[in-house]
Amino acid sequence: MKKYKVGIIGATGMVGQRFVLLTAKHPWFEPVVLAASAHSAGKAYKDAVAGKWFMQEDIPESEGNLVVMDAEADAEKIASMVDFVFCAVNMKKDEIKALEEKYAKLECPVVSNNSAHRWTPDVPMVVPEINADHIQIIDAQRKRLGTKRGFIAVKSNCSLQSYVPALHPLMKYGVEKALVCTYQAISGAGKTFETWPEMIDNVIPYIGGEEEKSEQEPLKLWGKIAGDHIENASSPAITAQCLRVPCSDGHMAACFVSFKGEKPSIEQIKADWAAFSGRAQELNLPSAPKQFLHYFEEADRPQTKLDRNLEGGMAVSIGRLREDTQYDYKFVCLSHNTLRGAAGGAVLLAELLCAEGYIDAK
Ligand SMILES: NC(=O)c1ccc[n+]([C@@H]2O[C@H](COP(=O)([O-])OP(=O)(O)OC[C@H]3O[C@@H](n4cnc5c(N)ncnc54)[C@H](OP(=O)(O)O)[C@@H]3O)[C@@H](O)[C@H]2O)c1
Repeated sequence: MKKYKVGIIGATGMVGQRFVLLTAKHPWFEPVVLAASAHSAGKAYKDAVAGKWFMQEDIPESEGNLVVMDAEADAEKIASMVDFVFCAVNMKKDEIKALEEKYAKLECPVVSNNSAHRWTPDVPMVVPEINADHIQIIDAQRKRLGTKRGFIAVKSNCSLQSYVPALHPLMKYGVEKALVCTYQAISGAGKTFETWPEMIDNVIPYIGGEEEKSEQEPLKLWGKIAGDHIENASSPAITAQCLRVPCSDGHMAACFVSFKGEKPSIEQIKADWAAFSGRAQELNLPSAPKQFLHYFEEADRPQTKLDRNLEGGMAVSIGRLREDTQYDYKFVCLSHNTLRGAAGGAVLLAELLCAEGYIDAK
């Protein structure tokens, strides 16, 4: 099979490094361009990340020798060399918006990890198991941008990638409200214990902007296409507190949920979780977990360190489902923030876009 040629914008960063590893061994994708800021451009990738390679695995040899390109200055050249780009950069929001639109208008599809375009009404924000149908809005986006191939698609924030999948199969019972407390790893801030020693033996009860994203983004995921935009859902009401905890990887969430009418039984909920699968499984996409939602009966699971890598870090672990005194039920859930929650989720989205014909190999 002919592989799709892929560019990684922000390849030297925490999420970018994951993209390099995931695409280097991918059956459909081949990383041919690694790009970052002017500061890294011109260096061999292995030199650009020297002293800041955060991954356990080594830098793949052929990617290590690629010369890093300048994502802004070399945009036209990059767009001509690849079939699409992944984008995960640390820049101001309006600069990211402009950069991503520039690539889209150069007829280069952008699959983004950044939050800049998540609220653009004709940009699909997709978890492939939940709202794969939203990619159809790309036709309207292309009309607005005046493009044939180019578009922007984004994945949602890492904080919600555990509790939204857990709540999704329960929506048919009429979820009225949910309360979530998230316990988020330091890699979510692009950090390690070496670069953020203040996090050792510490909890910080604030992550800028995270609570708003955790409360509002699910409503776009559960929205529907209405003409040339995605109309957000108006319920359930979600309230969130997001804490930074001393874990390297893995975001856990404690979730409380109430239903509008009669609540399902514990057995029904567990059966719904076990039976749940989405478009990613239907299409048998290479990065799709076989079983998306795993329920643990053990009282002390899921645990961040033990369970974050389940199914290559792409599955969601759930446990401790029980009745609550204020809400109908409570449970905990976990997902890997830089895999399912970032680069892995974007790779899965790109696979969906290729399988559904929105990205083609030039
Ligand atoms: N970490 C996570 O778990 C996570 C999860 C979901 C979403 N995200 C989002 O993903 C994005 C990247 O996060 P990260 O943690 O990977 O950040 P990071 O480690 O700080 O990496 C930032 C990347 O952006 C590049 N960059 C900075 N300024 C640039 C410019 N002017 N032009 C081109 N490239 C530029 C950097 O290149 P240089 O090395 O050359 O400076 C680097 O490659 C952010 O928007 C973040 O919110 C992160």
